[in-house]
Amino acid sequence: MDRGRKYIIKGGNILKGELTIKGAKNAVLPALACTLLAKGEYHFINVPKVRDVFCMLRILEHLGAKSSFEGSTLLVDTSSVCRVDIPYDLATQIRASILFLGALTASFGEAVVPLPGGCAIGKRPVNFHEKGLRHLTAEISLDHGNIIAKASKLKGAEIILDFPSVTATENLLMAASLAEGETKIKNAAKEPEVVFLAEMLGKMGADIRGAGEDTIVIRGRKRLKPVKMEVIPDRIEAGTFLILSALFPENEVILNNFPVNLLEYPILKFQEMGGSIKKLGKNTYQIKGIGNLRPIEIQTAPYPGFPTDLQPIFAILLTQSQGISRIKENLFENRFLYAMELNRLGAEIMIEERVALIKGPTPLTGSPVRATDLRAGAALVLAGLLAKNTTTLYEAELVERGYEDLPGRIRAIGGDITIEEELNHSLCK
Ligand code: EPZ
Repeated sequence: MDRGRKYIIKGGNILKGELTIKGAKNAVLPALACTLLAKGEYHFINVPKVRDVFCMLRILEHLGAKSSFEGSTLLVDTSSVCRVDIPYDLATQIRASILFLGALTASFGEAVVPLPGGCAIGKRPVNFHEKGLRHLTAEISLDHGNIIAKASKLKGAEIILDFPSVTATENLLMAASLAEGETKIKNAAKEPEVVFLAEMLGKMGADIRGAGEDTIVIRGRKRLKPVKMEVIPDRIEAGTFLILSALFPENEVILNNFPVNLLEYPILKFQEMGGSIKKLGKNTYQIKGIGNLRPIEIQTAPYPGFPTDLQPIFAILLTQSQGISRIKENLFENRFLYAMELNRLGAEIMIEERVALIKGPTPLTGSPVRATDLRAGAALVLAGLLAKNTTTLYEAELVERGYEDLPGRIRAIGGDITIEEELNHSLCK
């Protein structure tokens, strides 16, 4: 178990300089599971070095694959994969381990995947994954907390998802690509990371139509082949840096590899708050701080709606807006844990079930806080930069699940943030 890490953040510095958005973690995770659909060597360009990626690579190595980084290019070789069981200690650290279920069942005819378990933001069941694979004629059973899947050969079917679940859509896309006959996934997730996976599968030889729309049609193939892929930019990191850049009116930050086309709704909301972005070149934008911030309403929704992963991030800036903002969280039942921590810094956030009311402007003052999940942790880093004096963020290793070297990149634009190893980890995990 890694020792705990804490970030020491001294607020108030004006931020000026350039940041480059890295590859999307949530595009890489399904792509790594997808390497099990065809043995051989894969190249992934622009891969973020984050804990979630390393965890998925550890699982692939347990199965017999090899992997190595050359700069930010990741090489994965699945030629010698020979196992179908995912280890409990790794699977339960990362929700995305469920993505091995579809790929292993489709290519090896069986899979043993521990239930990934819930996490801070919600129960996060995997019933849509199980139900969808049963439709494809897999036998799914539960044994001591492990999902056991068996299928001599998956058969295509029509599947209607109860909810456009991102990883359920991704799991079923991978499984259907090697199934016999045609599969239709209705009420499919439209996230860019789902489209990226469909593109990867297409390059591998799969026959997929409609990714990014409500219904995806897949005609199963007998065999696929390994590929090289350039990973799409991380729209959630990009949204995080958008808010980071606007924390103070005097800020001026240039963002490279900024995927405006994947952030339409968050940018619209940013402009409603009084923000503006200026195009300087292809995927390069200048973000300036916002003078008087206006309060707004946010409803989280599946893509292309406002992404749930960005509501904690936007909430930070909304604490400084002139009035009361309202955030309705429609995806996860427990995604306001950061609010309690933010109130320790002086925010005034009231939670009523799935609604947060944020009163502004409330000056923030540094205090010890704890990252409750990945995006909450990132939001609290931004809050620490905004607050006067010093904020200590405990459990900061959660932030490193999804952001590569966030402290180093913030220091590069003038932010004051350092890392300390926590000797006796505050939580006896
Ligand atoms: C993906 O999680 C992302 N993770 C999450 O990002 C993101 O918050 C989420 O999509 C929503 O956009 C990855 O892509 C690895 P869902 P996922 O299945 O697929 C319910 C981050 O910070 N549901 O779309 O697990 C579920 O409880 C992470 O990078 C079921 O009920 O989310 C939730 O209420 C956090 N049964 C809703 O659907 C199921 O079988 C949406 O979940 C599956 C989901």
